[in-house]
Amino acid sequence: MVLTQVQQLDEGSSYTSSVFASRYVQDPVPRYELGTSSISKEAAYQLIHDELLLDGSPRLNLASFVTTWMEPECDRLMTETANKNYVDMDEYPVTTELQNRCVNIIARLFNVPLNVKEAAVGVGTVGSSEAIMLAGLAFKRRWQNRRRAEGKPYDKPNIVTGANVQKFARYFEVELKEVKLREGFYVMDPEKAVEMVDENTICVAAILGSTLTGEFEDVKLLNNLLTQKNKRTGWDTPIHVDAASGGFIAPFLYPELEWDFRLPLVKSINVSGHKYGLVYAGVGWVIWRSKEDLPDELIFHINYLGADQPTFTLNFSKGSSQIIAQYYQFLRLGFEGYRNVMNNCMESAKILREGLDATGRFDIISKEQGVPLVAFSFKERDKTLAFKFSNLLRRFGWIVPAYTLPPDLENTTVLRVVIREDFGRTLAEKFLSHVKMALKELDSMIRAPVPTIRYTIEFGPGENAGDEPMVKVVKQEVGGIQKSVPLLSGKTKGVC
Ligand SMILES: Cc1ncc(COP(=O)(O)O)c(C=O)c1O
Repeated sequence: MVLTQVQQLDEGSSYTSSVFASRYVQDPVPRYELGTSSISKEAAYQLIHDELLLDGSPRLNLASFVTTWMEPECDRLMTETANKNYVDMDEYPVTTELQNRCVNIIARLFNVPLNVKEAAVGVGTVGSSEAIMLAGLAFKRRWQNRRRAEGKPYDKPNIVTGANVQKFARYFEVELKEVKLREGFYVMDPEKAVEMVDENTICVAAILGSTLTGEFEDVKLLNNLLTQKNKRTGWDTPIHVDAASGGFIAPFLYPELEWDFRLPLVKSINVSGHKYGLVYAGVGWVIWRSKEDLPDELIFHINYLGADQPTFTLNFSKGSSQIIAQYYQFLRLGFEGYRNVMNNCMESAKILREGLDATGRFDIISKEQGVPLVAFSFKERDKTLAFKFSNLLRRFGWIVPAYTLPPDLENTTVLRVVIREDFGRTLAEKFLSHVKMALKELDSMIRAPVPTIRYTIEFGPGENAGDEPMVKVVKQEVGGIQKSVPLLSGKTKGVC
């Protein structure tokens, strides 16, 4: 089954000719079925290009963490390698080598305990979602193996989390034990999480960089509390860190913060290469602490494409460009470059936070430490304001999502601006000036006093025989216009 986002097809079912394409196509081209004949490449390009103009502008899309700008040299590398299927590792050994270098670079950035010569364990994925599923599967299998060896039941696995592993839990039949968030505290409380752990818990999943507010969860406290519980109970519950956004921020901005493999219970970490890894959409990474944390039976060995190739991914074929682009960024930027980019993002976030705060209209709910984003809500407790405001900003081209917080906090509606590398100071200042204009417009929409004018009117016949009946305003308490207007029916006198 193919899921489409629209319930009904667009009204026009074929392209008639657009301005440019009319030079090349005369007949309508169907949109929802295959055309009977070919059209020229110029026409095909122009038709699609023109239609895409109606999409939002990616650089003004402040909803997304995903990279929308890369250097032209990297764009060129990506185009040059678009025809390489990543899975043909024997045919493209250099591409495979570049992915291995990326895995090792990231693992070491996350302080994996390896000596210089040892290879790290990890894999490139299409994003953090696939990476989380792979990490979750490894935990589930490891837990099942241990329970089986102990002669204990292994049919009721659960995972403890604040958010974000819902998909894994549902697809791979693992009970989700969610730590509820509460007003003013929008990340998982480590104490509550550890309380929820039982013998069937395959892992606790912490988040470095909440999707809602950008805040980092306290992985160190979680590690300490869980170590104590493991000691008390004899269990061996590990931690996974979903560092989708924070994984490429914390090492550069907060090197002292312990959230990664420095903590003994952290067995795997995922990160999105296409977020603060600074690559276009389509790349993520999952790294394991050691070989022992990735059960061997999950690894597929294929040899029909050449030599033996171990793989652990949910899909098979995929493009190589994103992995090559990730390596380009590592090589090009180095630690210094990434730190500069992240510092600039934080600077823009600060300008935005202060500007929004200065309007006096918003509560800022994101923290200063974390992912460079600003999440804010209207001080007025009207849930609809954020949605109206989001629509008003859209008129200036900005895409700023408004959303309600998860269950138990659904009375708070939040707006969120994610700062990416290409959102510099100039855009931040422009955005703030549009915020002020949109606020004025919002106020005029919702606060404009509704004029109350009291009219005394008289219904009656027209002045001459055969004229339309008239309604005559005989008194108006605001202003003073005396006006006669035609009445469509009735010959009554009255006041309203
Ligand atoms: C914390 C967190 N985990 C996972 C994801 C999913 O990431 P991806 O888009 O790389 O699959 C997101 C997306 O924003 C996220 O914020």
